[in-house]
Amino acid sequence: MGKRVTLLPAGSQFVVEGQETVLEAAIRSGVALPYACSNGNCGQCKARIIEGEVQRARHQDYVFSLADRQQGFVLLCANSAISDLVLEVPDVDGAEEITEQKFRVKVRKLERISDQLLILHTRMPRGERMRFLAGQYATLSIPRIGDYDYSLASCPCDEKRLEFHIRYVGHEPVSDYLFNTLRVGERLALIGPKGRFVLHEDSLRPMIMIAFDTGFAAIKSLLEHATAQEKEREIYLYWISCGSEGQYLDNLCRSWQDALDEFHYIPLSISESHQEIMAQQAKGCEITKQKLLRVVDQHSDLSGFDVYIAAPEPFLESAQKIFLKFGLDPARLRAETVHGNQNVSCLVG
Ligand code: FES
Repeated sequence: MGKRVTLLPAGSQFVVEGQETVLEAAIRSGVALPYACSNGNCGQCKARIIEGEVQRARHQDYVFSLADRQQGFVLLCANSAISDLVLEVPDVDGAEEITEQKFRVKVRKLERISDQLLILHTRMPRGERMRFLAGQYATLSIPRIGDYDYSLASCPCDEKRLEFHIRYVGHEPVSDYLFNTLRVGERLALIGPKGRFVLHEDSLRPMIMIAFDTGFAAIKSLLEHATAQEKEREIYLYWISCGSEGQYLDNLCRSWQDALDEFHYIPLSISESHQEIMAQQAKGCEITKQKLLRVVDQHSDLSGFDVYIAAPEPFLESAQKIFLKFGLDPARLRAETVHGNQNVSCLVG
């Protein structure tokens, strides 16, 4: 039977199963804790035991001071729970407190959705993990070609396998390379994590999540993290897709809807292709505005919601105006420019 862990002063709870460490259980459950190395070296994950007992599950090199030992500090990455626990931990880190690092990731799989859309699966080097928060992004760096930012589409609960959704941007060297030259097994330089498009961790409000095209990458990461938290709240996902590609992970969204009572998936489609939308900027903005009005139509008052939207820059501006007009508290709106996407310039109100 799992052991329940309660964190003070935040009061958040999760369950440690079997031999997993307390840190592994927290990450799997979507509970943010301070940590860095995950292997008993840095001391970042230390916490004080208020109640309960732990058992050493991993080797640790970090050495506690006598005072720390006397106060009952342990490393959460090196210990499992053998009873229910009450732990005192420092306040949860924000995105700005996670240090950017450079890694050499290996290409695990290239999943071609179409000749314009690619899902890139990578694996971290042996013994390394990239700590990040759901919704953040990273820079892929190709020597002598260039750098480009892409949202991390994977859940922070899997720090070894990272996923990116890549839209082809014509005449842009990095996307040319990723679509035409990159091969499975090749190594890429990755710098991250970056960005502040993260969940309101302490919120129990219902959530509206809006993804435009590959904006789904960041939204997918947020959703996987939010659903792992097992908080009882309604989640509405609106995914605006372009052209014949549709919602390219539609089956995944439908499986979430089947499995989760409070999850609602509403696909919205634009008949024009992504290229056409980007080429005809004013038309693209107007179409997007109409889709956003359909979103707010379904919710008479937005004042009780948290809203997250990932879309090209001008569409974000449009969304902000619409959502605020329908009662959303500006502090509850988090917006992210779609990374690795072509920017367009238009203003719609
Ligand atoms: S995370 Fe570094 S010691 Fe636990």
